[in-house]
Amino acid sequence: MRLNVTVNGRPLRADDVWEGESLLYVLRERLGLPGSKNACEQGECGSCTVRLDGVPVCSCLVAAGQAEGRDVVTVEGLAEHARRRTAGRTGETGPGSGSGGSDTGSASGPGGSDTGSDTGSEAGTGSDTGPAGDTGRAGGTGGTGGPDGRQPVAAASSQLAPVQQAFVDAGAVQCGFCTPGLLVAADALLEQNPEPTDADIREALSGNLCRCTGYEKILDAVRLAAARGGPQSAGATGPAGPAGPAGPAGKDGA
Ligand code: FES
Ligand code: FES
Repeated sequence: MRLNVTVNGRPLRADDVWEGESLLYVLRERLGLPGSKNACEQGECGSCTVRLDGVPVCSCLVAAGQAEGRDVVTVEGLAEHARRRTAGRTGETGPGSGSGGSDTGSASGPGGSDTGSDTGSEAGTGSDTGPAGDTGRAGGTGGTGGPDGRQPVAAASSQLAPVQQAFVDAGAVQCGFCTPGLLVAADALLEQNPEPTDADIREALSGNLCRCTGYEKILDAVRLAAARGGPQSAGATGPAGPAGPAGPAGKDGA
């Protein structure tokens, strides 16, 4: 089947999608967005967390077909999502606004410059969100993908989302496998609740498991992001660190 979905503000298309494929598989294997991690693929760990029409979900539990015509935000698009959110709140207009605003990218195919948060790096978050991202993938609207059959997608921003920068600054990133999911969940929390209590943070991150660390640095990072003004504060520039640890355990099923 053909899947039409807006990912990080860009309308995209994937062909020959099997009905049983997960959204996670489509994102990683067909759309060239490996930021969302596949760990348990059972809805247990939260490392695959994305936002589907604004709601954090485990993309491993979402059938690709369920995403038809909907808006998805992945860790690769977090910085741009934050930028648009800020623009929306300040009354600016830009290409697409709010979550899931539609942005028509152009170039498709290899050779584009991808400065986005994580393309190409299996490490999720802060990781390759540096000023110079991975090269070789270009954003596209409805393109059919590069020679490898994947649909190339580029994140548009070279900045970190505030929550990403807070994770870096708080030292909340270690191996990073859990970090993309944590970032997406934390960003969603701060969007809904800019001044969360510790209980709110723990609840919001309860679906995200970290296998390497305790969760204290992660909690610190979310507190820091909130103190800096939540998800709407200005994104920080600069290179990002490697992906980081996760928060408390829990699930956030699709
Ligand atoms: S990979 Fe989806 S919850 Fe673990
Ligand atoms: S799983 Fe390694 S930092 Fe969380």
